[in-house]
Amino acid sequence: MEENFKMIAKTLFGFEDILENELIQLGAQNINKGVRMVSFVGDKGFMYKANLALRTAIKILKPIHSFKVKNETDLYKNIYAMDWSQYLKSNGTLAVDATIHSDLFSHSLFIAQKTKDAIVDKFRETTGERPSVDLKFPDVKINVHISKNHCNISLDTSGDSLHKRGYKTATNIAPINEVLAAGLIMLSGWDGQCDFMDPMCGSGTMLIEAAMIACNIPPNLMRKEFAFERWPDWDVELFEKIEESLLKKTRDFHHKIIGYDKAPSAVKKAQINAENAQLDDFITVKHEDFFKTQKGGNEKLHMVFNPPYGERLNIDMELFYKNIGDTLKQSYPGTDAWFITSNLNALKHVGLRPSRKIQLYNAKLESRLVKYVMYEGSKKAKFN
Ligand SMILES: C[S@@+](CC[C@H](N)C(=O)[O-])C[C@H]1O[C@@H](n2cnc3c(N)ncnc32)[C@H](O)[C@@H]1O
Repeated sequence: MEENFKMIAKTLFGFEDILENELIQLGAQNINKGVRMVSFVGDKGFMYKANLALRTAIKILKPIHSFKVKNETDLYKNIYAMDWSQYLKSNGTLAVDATIHSDLFSHSLFIAQKTKDAIVDKFRETTGERPSVDLKFPDVKINVHISKNHCNISLDTSGDSLHKRGYKTATNIAPINEVLAAGLIMLSGWDGQCDFMDPMCGSGTMLIEAAMIACNIPPNLMRKEFAFERWPDWDVELFEKIEESLLKKTRDFHHKIIGYDKAPSAVKKAQINAENAQLDDFITVKHEDFFKTQKGGNEKLHMVFNPPYGERLNIDMELFYKNIGDTLKQSYPGTDAWFITSNLNALKHVGLRPSRKIQLYNAKLESRLVKYVMYEGSKKAKFN
């Protein structure tokens, strides 16, 4: 029997409830929701499973020690006192990453440096050899989190952010982060029971995440590497068993996933990425100007997209957002349309009243995820 331990899944602001639900579905124990994070308990196999299967986690940390700190000397002494030989070889490589929410410390880079020094000094003084720093592919990635006078030391089980799924080789301008895309689709409540459309699909992130959600495909099956693969206790057989068990839970999907973009280069990129993800059987990408299209058929349609918000574009954003509203109203009856934007001014020009408005962040930009319900047979949005 593998031992159970605590883990912390980090997420984006506003996705805590969804991540909690994902963890419940996966079978995590002792789940506790915080701000931009959810903690839980599981064994090594569950750590592999969480990294492979969670759609809204950015990374998963494994806390290994915590202590009180007043200053850098305290930090150094506590880190030095830890037994690092169980995590790292004396000739191995490490990287340290620090986050600070404290008036006692100001520079996270300095804290990371001090932590690295304590570990390296400990190895040098006890073995005569010292590990070196490798920021890209370290054997161990250590996370230092200081909140007020409380310091948590964790191993980063994921390595690179979990939004790096491995399918996106072709990127467009302003591609949406995969974790954000998956979270938006889940927040929108799409359950794979009707057609899905991203009418401004760019490199196709939303389409691919939607297809994976519909088919219950773990998002990180194609990822190049997880940090735990370099750990001394790496168990490739267990990992493969977990992959197999997750693959057994995939399901059929009987609807369509459609992407439009008015830039031919974006269409090509979305197609390449869909092929990379081996989801091109479900995804159709077309070269279309959304404002000149019409919904086909009477079936219900679910839309999730991120229109341009205007930072890099020299176009009239107020008119652009008015066109979104007009197109939905005139040409997309029977559609639930969701989109995220950080252009809060242009949003006012959509001309429809949203039935939901959720505050989120796209990178550091304060944004709104809005929902417009377009009734079948009527050219009006639902007002409530
Ligand atoms: C912010 S990007 C979407 C990014 C995308 N979610 C991704 O992951 O790459 C907006 C996209 O809208 C497209 N676009 C702008 N106006 C459009 C229109 N009228 N019809 C269709 N696509 C449009 C742009 O070409 C661009 O690819």
